[in-house]
Amino acid sequence: MKDPITVSVTGAAGQIGYALLFRIASGAMFGPEQPVNLRLIEIEPGMKALAGVVMELDDCAFPLLNSTVATSDLAEGFKGANWALLVGSVPRGPGMERNDLLGINGKIFTGQGQAIAANAASDVRTLVVGNPCNTNCLIAMNAAKGVPNNQFFAMTRLDENRAKSQLAQKAGVHQNAVTNLCIWGNHSATQYPDYTNAKINGAPVTDAISDTEWLQGEFIKNVQQRGAAIIQARGTSSAASAANGVVDTVRSLTTPTPDGDWTSVAVCSSGEYGIEAGLIASMPIRTTDGKTWEVVEGVEVDAFSQGKIDASVAELQMEKVAVADLLV
Ligand code: NAD
Ligand code: LMR
Repeated sequence: MKDPITVSVTGAAGQIGYALLFRIASGAMFGPEQPVNLRLIEIEPGMKALAGVVMELDDCAFPLLNSTVATSDLAEGFKGANWALLVGSVPRGPGMERNDLLGINGKIFTGQGQAIAANAASDVRTLVVGNPCNTNCLIAMNAAKGVPNNQFFAMTRLDENRAKSQLAQKAGVHQNAVTNLCIWGNHSATQYPDYTNAKINGAPVTDAISDTEWLQGEFIKNVQQRGAAIIQARGTSSAASAANGVVDTVRSLTTPTPDGDWTSVAVCSSGEYGIEAGLIASMPIRTTDGKTWEVVEGVEVDAFSQGKIDASVAELQMEKVAVADLLV
């Protein structure tokens, strides 16, 4: 048996937590040979529900679950973490944009960033899910002094999966046929699902879908507004698909990317594609060894795409200004 990986999850008693923990413990995230230690973090009011979730984890008798800790203490919660999955925060309700949450959620990520730097393993990789996730990730990264910026990520994989599914349904193919789908920018209503570089069965999307008006209009809007549509329908925000996005993101960052393909993750820009350095922006990412990652270079950005990317980056710049007091 391998040594266990330690995974800290905040908001562990919430909706996403409930859909996520059992998949981590079952081996869906790190594979069937990899034991895990779970360190589950909640605020005090969530601790009673978290105790119930821990009972259910116990009742699964998962062969790969080595230990479970439930705590409201950040130092204890992030102790030795190899992965910190920052889910805990308030979700938006109907009629809100995700960045309306900045004032409520932003400050959570300073303390968590500091606690990660002080307590986690040196290789800790942090994935921020709590919204608005790009800018919350920026806050956590700034607070986590000494942890390299390339160990911070925000989740746009749910958007990638949504976009692939929309394209597959329109083209009448299985979603596995859709590759090279990049979400650019912010996990928000300005995100750009890039159909111009995506492929269906290895060929340009436009070979299978000739309706450019749909691609440039309804398709992009559907992906941008999918989170709001789910809130409208369910009364609460996406949870199972969000948890699945977390599993997919971590798997993609820990296993080699298939040849010629890429995946979408928001990472700290070094100025790639003209995106302001230091912003947490979604770009095409690949990894060859499952440890280090790189932004895929040379992806063609036409004038239409550039306009969309610029709009999303401008929103990230505005969000950064809005949280300047938290970027200590
Ligand atoms: P939820 O309200 O069901 O659960 C959130 C949990 O976090 C609660 O149990 C709460 O007690 C806990 N919490 C709050 N503040 C905390 C803190 N400081 N430390 C630890 N725990 C804390 O919400 P949810 O549906 O699980 O969603 C969680 C977040 O994920 C929301 O911000 C939501 O908008 C976001 N989200 C992001 C994506 C994405 O694609 N990036 C997708 C779906 C949801
Ligand atoms: C989503 O995309 O489903 C989440 O970010 C939740 C939301 O507020 O839309």
